[in-house]
Amino acid sequence: MRILSIETSCDETAVAVLEGIPANEGGAAAGSAARFTVLGNALLSQIDIHKEYGGVYPMIAKREHAKNLVPLLDSALTQAGMVAKGEDGLSDELRAEITQILEREPGLADALLAFLSETARPDIEAIAVTAGPGLEPALWVGVNFARVLSRVWNLPIISVNHMEGHICAALAQLEDPQHISIPDIKLPLLSLLISGGHTELVLSKEWGSYELVGATRDDAVGEAFDKVARMLGLPYPGGPEVSKLAERTREANRDSGYKLPRPMIHDAHCDFSFSGLKTAVLYQVKDMDLTSEQKEDMAREFEDAVGDVLYAKTKRALEETGAKTLALGGGVSANTHIQRTFRERLAEDFPDVHLAIPVPALTTDNAVMIGLAGFYHALKQDFAESDSLRADGNRKLRA
Ligand code: KG4
Ligand code: ZN
Repeated sequence: MRILSIETSCDETAVAVLEGIPANEGGAAAGSAARFTVLGNALLSQIDIHKEYGGVYPMIAKREHAKNLVPLLDSALTQAGMVAKGEDGLSDELRAEITQILEREPGLADALLAFLSETARPDIEAIAVTAGPGLEPALWVGVNFARVLSRVWNLPIISVNHMEGHICAALAQLEDPQHISIPDIKLPLLSLLISGGHTELVLSKEWGSYELVGATRDDAVGEAFDKVARMLGLPYPGGPEVSKLAERTREANRDSGYKLPRPMIHDAHCDFSFSGLKTAVLYQVKDMDLTSEQKEDMAREFEDAVGDVLYAKTKRALEETGAKTLALGGGVSANTHIQRTFRERLAEDFPDVHLAIPVPALTTDNAVMIGLAGFYHALKQDFAESDSLRADGNRKLRA
């Protein structure tokens, strides 16, 4: 099954073309095992634009997605060898419909009309698009773009939950940049999803079904990283910058002089809270002229506190659920210290639990993971109604 996938939930615009084959007879009923060939993969990060403002502005993100989607579609399809000259097959009626679907994005409508009028229908079977969670204006651009492609090429749409994409990315084994396999994972699967907008523990008793086990009661962990980075005078996105500083004190083997709280670490539930931790950093750094060593020490203590809390809550969830596979997903799962903490402590506490961590190329937002998640829905013929497809900034994973 060949799928075109589109991701525009935050500050990355991405389009990919994947071919997926279930590894076992029985397709969807056979679980997670499948092999994928990445035929095309195009991504543009807006980080340099948002850096100037110190964070992501939804309306700027939306404008950039609208500008970049057609060139990225062209690039992904070209890589896949699927761009062929077509005859102008767009009737006036179809053109009017496209303009109507993209009425809020006139620039995108013009670029897409020009592309579609000279390009033949590619050899794909479905279109997967992130419909949430994420920044709603940004999501809408991708959703409406997918609706146009679905209409013109007469292809079904798969409405993908962005977090399900992060779970698939964690489970994906990269044989080489073009070849991915997802093994037959042992259930139950527990996923710790940690990104700029999310911090949650999700249980899959069956492949493709989700129950929320715990979640942040205030800030997401990526948000806390980004805010602490700002307090330390570091650029956006803060996660990787904080990590770089923290690793320096660890290399120097210096004892961090700072002490921060581990919120809710002993509470008998699997929820998180990061806003108190962030405020504790603020109290210790505000109006202070920190030396670079002090900044490194603070970054390290912050990371240690985050790692301790994430692991303690995940440990509790593993005990409560008896999960056999643990997946770490979302941008924050790129963090070296968090990965190390989970590898070391899990090997000690749960030697039989398999830990799945995404490869770097699939850790932050991308369209490949949306294609992977979309593939399993397509196998079940779980397609969306194009006319009623909506972007949902708060979309939840469902049972
Ligand atoms: O999943 P993602 O790319 O976008 C969302 O869906 O939110 O995650 C972005 C978040 C940002 O908050 C960023 O600071 C954080 O992931 N992040 C990191 C690291 N790399 C990215 N946080 C800590 N350490 C990192 N190495
Ligand atoms: Zn994400």
